[in-house]
Amino acid sequence: MKGIILAGGSGTRLYPLTRVLSKQLIPVYDKPMIYYPLSVLMLAGIQDILIISTPRDLPQFQELFGDGSHLGLTISYTIQPRPEGLAQAFVLGKSFIGDDSVALILGDNIFFGSGFSHILDKCSALTEGGLIFGYPVKDPERYGVVEFNQENRVVGIEEKPEHPKSKFAVPGLYFYDNDVIEIAENINPSPRGELEITDVNMEYLHRGKLQVQPLSRGFCWLDTGTHESLQQAASYVQAVQDRQGLKVACIEEIAYSLGYINSEQMTKLAQDMLKNQYGQYLMDIVNEKETGSTFS
Ligand code: DAU
Repeated sequence: MKGIILAGGSGTRLYPLTRVLSKQLIPVYDKPMIYYPLSVLMLAGIQDILIISTPRDLPQFQELFGDGSHLGLTISYTIQPRPEGLAQAFVLGKSFIGDDSVALILGDNIFFGSGFSHILDKCSALTEGGLIFGYPVKDPERYGVVEFNQENRVVGIEEKPEHPKSKFAVPGLYFYDNDVIEIAENINPSPRGELEITDVNMEYLHRGKLQVQPLSRGFCWLDTGTHESLQQAASYVQAVQDRQGLKVACIEEIAYSLGYINSEQMTKLAQDMLKNQYGQYLMDIVNEKETGSTFS
């Protein structure tokens, strides 16, 4: 399975923060926002990843991640000239996806919770149809909303409905078979001028091939859309990390634990961060593994 991180958009809701900087590069506590969605694709076992962003911002992502080989990944890049919708990712990423299935994650979505790796393992095994998540929120009208029955069969899906039929928002993480390219190429722009991901999901629903995976209330899907929610996300990450002494979305740690990089490579990654707790954390992981003590 291939993975796409969509990290474009205008970011105007976070001005002046994002006036000259990509939203997905601003910090969420101790790391750039895009580390969080990248960690999700890595935990799903996906190593071949495409980052899509604006002409202005793409060079900065390239500087941050290069070809991804330092993390045992293959990262490539494509420009989205204008923010013409989430589903455009599959049109722009057509040759990258090739004959594979694909996961799309939005570069500003943060997921965290016990058992998530297990859920992701199942999702990345998908070979047919589409798979979305449902997460209960108090303001579903701000999102795509999915309605499903007791057997978790999707009954309906709507984009930002005025009167939501359920409280389950659809987070920005989607798994599809290869048909998604043809589907995305054939949908029409919505009244707001975008190729809507909800229209892709509706097509899978019409074909009887859309599954939903509800995420429980103990799970965390964080919003970063406003100054307030961004601050709350950072505080949440800080609170969890300080309490447990374990990092959320530490991509170097994930690469190491999945065996994509060895102790020597991990030590090299830590080198220019040794003066801060992030670099120290990476070194602690290497040392604890080498002395045989349990880390996580
Ligand atoms: O966050 C989940 C929600 O994302 C879903 O529940 C909705 O169904 C889906 O439509 C989307 O909602 P928004 O309309 O609120 O998405 P927004 O326009 O904020 O874009 C989400 C992110 O994707 C944002 O960081 C900008 C980026 N983006 C957006 C568009 C439209 C792109 O990179 N390219 C684009 O063309």
